[in-house]
Amino acid sequence: MWPLSLSLPASSKLVYSLLTLGFLSLPVLSTHEATSPVVAIEQGSFIGSTDGHTNRYLGIRYAQPPTGDLRFRRPLPVEPYTGTIDVSDFAPICPQHLIELPSELPPTLDVGMTLRIVTGVYNATAPQSEDCLSLNIWTPPNVSGDSKLPVAVWIHGGGFQVGSANQYDGGILVRRSIEIGEPMIFVGLNYRLSALGWLAGKEAKEAGVGNLGFFDQRLALKWIQKNIQLFGGDPTKVTIFGESAGAVSVATHMMTNNGDHEGLFRAAFMESGSTWPVGDMEGGQRWYDDLVANTECADEEDTVECLRDVPLDKLRAAMDRAPAFFSYSALSLSWGPRTDGEFMPNSGRELLMSGNVAKVPTLIGTCDDEGTAFALGAANTTTTEELRDYLSTIVFPDATQSSIDALLEAYPEDPTLGAPFGTGEMNAISPQFKRLAAIWSDLAFIAPKALWAKKRADIQDTWVYVHKRNKNVAVLGATHFTDIFDLFGPSDMTDHFIHFVSYLNPNGGAPVEVQTVFDDLSTHSQVPLNIGGAVGWPRYNSATKLKLAYMAGSPSVSVVPDTDREKQVTFMMKFLEENQMR
Ligand SMILES: *[C@@H]1O[C@H](CO)[C@@H](O)[C@H](O)[C@H]1NC(C)=O
Ligand SMILES: *[C@@H]1O[C@H](CO)[C@@H](O)[C@H](O)[C@H]1NC(C)=O
Ligand SMILES: *[C@@H]1O[C@H](CO)[C@@H](O)[C@H](O)[C@H]1NC(C)=O
Repeated sequence: MWPLSLSLPASSKLVYSLLTLGFLSLPVLSTHEATSPVVAIEQGSFIGSTDGHTNRYLGIRYAQPPTGDLRFRRPLPVEPYTGTIDVSDFAPICPQHLIELPSELPPTLDVGMTLRIVTGVYNATAPQSEDCLSLNIWTPPNVSGDSKLPVAVWIHGGGFQVGSANQYDGGILVRRSIEIGEPMIFVGLNYRLSALGWLAGKEAKEAGVGNLGFFDQRLALKWIQKNIQLFGGDPTKVTIFGESAGAVSVATHMMTNNGDHEGLFRAAFMESGSTWPVGDMEGGQRWYDDLVANTECADEEDTVECLRDVPLDKLRAAMDRAPAFFSYSALSLSWGPRTDGEFMPNSGRELLMSGNVAKVPTLIGTCDDEGTAFALGAANTTTTEELRDYLSTIVFPDATQSSIDALLEAYPEDPTLGAPFGTGEMNAISPQFKRLAAIWSDLAFIAPKALWAKKRADIQDTWVYVHKRNKNVAVLGATHFTDIFDLFGPSDMTDHFIHFVSYLNPNGGAPVEVQTVFDDLSTHSQVPLNIGGAVGWPRYNSATKLKLAYMAGSPSVSVVPDTDREKQVTFMMKFLEENQMR
């Protein structure tokens, strides 16, 4: 067997055409000039690029273009590859939903951090195309078909409405993995967004075209099973990981198909997201009705079929009329995942409770102040009455008045109990801001995470963390997305993740003795577990409930009990048993 990853001079057009014509068989050349890595696949070959530290194969198509008659249909596997395919640069990203920041931002807002988050989530200048089902691969420079390295597959966030794999530099993780002697492969995948990937309404449900973004991701995971060995990866050692919408996606892949992961992955990492508290596709009917009305499809017999013929610009203008996730309605998503009866036969919470969940080692955690970024859009909500109205019309339109009253009581108008948590009277930019921020934090992220840990940790190796390194950011605190800067650092969080990918344990190969060294649990004393000079990250279980806290300053990590605001989080877990968003 010959090595499958080779080197060719980037400039050698002749070699490319010879390859295309089948005159040259591989392996061929190595030179002293800058070289382009090549991977032979089926009847073709991919020509990637290298920076000397990692090799990149970018914009690899994994599905047929979801355009023309394939728009609003489940993705089909890509046709066999033939000829020489240039994968040295990114392919276009999927059409993005129009994002508008709240028109009035508080003067004390940390503009630098806000810009870092917004540009991290969303690249406004990257070229977009409906033909966007591609993935990006980074590998160590000198791998071959029998390297059999573990593989980390990244599902990006962006509220199911924006974002792309292209803005996450997998090279940082791969380079670090080589440095610490645990080389791995990184794959980032693109999936359809906004209405194109997450149509709602009974017509879309009946046509079986809900949650297309999940189908795209699943197809990409199957592509990886089939092909990653050619790039030096081991298809039996895949870890899926994602943040926000990506983490919700990871949770869904663990629960779809009755929890049968079909060997597509052996470990999972959910960063700020797990089960999404939303109901059936019909709950999004109003967005579908608006969409067909604004594309002149409303009077057609088959409205989904009509939408396939609408020019993309017109379709986008219509889909953008529905609110995006930084707007007033925030995480009450217009276009997003919902129960479809098939990929998601039931709500995420019910799937989790059923126990049919992929039994793979799991990392799960959140930022401390997740919800602040999502409360900015409703900062004009200034009285309890207005908040009651907001919660019962925008967030939980199906909830009873008494449920909403109980929610308001559990999250009182007291800035010292709101998010950013633990900041006293500070950051109260409006009388309800910290209160709503606390509600968003718990309902979308922290309570679902707590329920996941509670249900799964005694069944399957689970490690839990909280990220608190940005607590001192004005107004936002340790808000959603701020841990990404560490994960793609590199930082200690990067290393924990790489260890997890390699050893199915964030502590790496060394066994970790779990010892309880807390003087007094009630004061949440933060005494690190000291194991061989490093802080060990104990497995979570329902008795000790220990998690890792990423801290600013010293110590930079601590092991703490997962009992922060236990009363509110427990309330929210209970509340979500009976209530969900539309
Ligand atoms: C955004 O996209 C542009 C165009 O492809 C690219 O040049 C730029 O590097 C991207 N920025 C980020 C932060 O990914
Ligand atoms: C790549 O080659 C370098 C230098 O020969 C070596 O140190 C490194 O371990 C190799 N990496 C892999 C992933 O094989
Ligand atoms: C706040 O702004 C939103 C969006 O413009 C509006 O719908 C809502 O009525 C406003 N709320 C209050 C209390 O003014």
